[in-house]
Amino acid sequence: MESYSMNIEPLISPDEFVGLEGVTHLCTGGEAPWLKAQETVYADFARLKSAGYDGRGEIYARGERCRQRMGQLWGVPSARIAFMPSAAEGMNWLARGLDWQAGDNIVTTNLEFPSVAYAWKHLRSQGVEVRMVPHQNWIVHEEDLLVAVDGRTRVLAVSHVSFYTGQCLNLERLSEGIRGKGALFAVDATHASGVVDVAAGLTDLTVSSSYKWMLATHGVAPCYLSPRAEEQTEATSFGWHNLAVWPAQRAERLPEVVEKPMPERMEPGNPAMLVVMHLDRGLEALLAIGIERIADHARSLSEQVSAGLMELEFTVISPENRAARSGNTCFLVEDAKGMQDRLAERSVLCWGEYGRVRISTHLYNGSADVVRFLEVLSDLK
Ligand SMILES: Cc1ncc(COP(=O)(O)O)c(C=O)c1O
Repeated sequence: MESYSMNIEPLISPDEFVGLEGVTHLCTGGEAPWLKAQETVYADFARLKSAGYDGRGEIYARGERCRQRMGQLWGVPSARIAFMPSAAEGMNWLARGLDWQAGDNIVTTNLEFPSVAYAWKHLRSQGVEVRMVPHQNWIVHEEDLLVAVDGRTRVLAVSHVSFYTGQCLNLERLSEGIRGKGALFAVDATHASGVVDVAAGLTDLTVSSSYKWMLATHGVAPCYLSPRAEEQTEATSFGWHNLAVWPAQRAERLPEVVEKPMPERMEPGNPAMLVVMHLDRGLEALLAIGIERIADHARSLSEQVSAGLMELEFTVISPENRAARSGNTCFLVEDAKGMQDRLAERSVLCWGEYGRVRISTHLYNGSADVVRFLEVLSDLK
């Protein structure tokens, strides 16, 4: 374990972000700050948006570059990554697109983010069961999930990193464990992507919001779909972008039309290209540093946060095992929102809800932030 007293410097200066002067920003898990370099994306987009057909061509070219960077970050071919509007939509692709039968089931956990736990809500009336495997003392055990998977499980759906505890699940263990059982493996990587390594190729679907650890903003969620999941799912939304309407070069429509494969398959219309360009700039910064360094940094800071919290006698619910740590370190507080507000009054930004406070440490944080947070927390106790 990193020594609590070891001084860890930020990997990227907080001065490079908007609004971090005089602020201890420990809430990337809620909302990440913007890079100052991302402000130019908006002027760029305005110029290209006003430049007619060629401007649009350049916007799309930047979109493809972003797709490639996502492929690089997740270790999968970029052609298998679509830009969906939200992580919730990614999970719902499977909920809407599989040919569900009465008696099928979905395995997830009882500590899941609502979009993962409830994407299947409408299927219950069709006789589909949602199995919510209970956490044990705030830890979800991969083995417990695997035991719940049987021959009727169509989807194992989990968050890579828990929004509630920060636990980073072992995707390798889960994907190995369900191999040959027929279930698809669906992962919400919103609290993982940009801070820990996301091996999307181990999954059938990986989706992530871009406004947290990937340093972008709302409206775009990259989504990887495996060839197997593409084969097993029907698209349920259609438009000009995911149908092969152009080769005919005719305005008159025919009843039959061919569907395009990935990545357009999941994009019936234009993705939010302004946000895609914003994400592209965020990914450039993340990839320049490298995800392994970022993960190491975040986990070391998480250890410092945990050690300090335990000294102050708070109940930490994040795992102690380093590999199961992430950028989120969480502790129980009955009035979590009240604690968040009191910390914010002292310019320490964190996220408090559902009886726990979440401290997020990303690449612009260092030990000085941890020390300041712990000092303020100790005063407030
Ligand atoms: C695990 C997880 N998934 C998804 C989201 C929200 O993403 P979106 O609005 O893109 O569905 C959040 C937000 O807190 C989250 O914690």
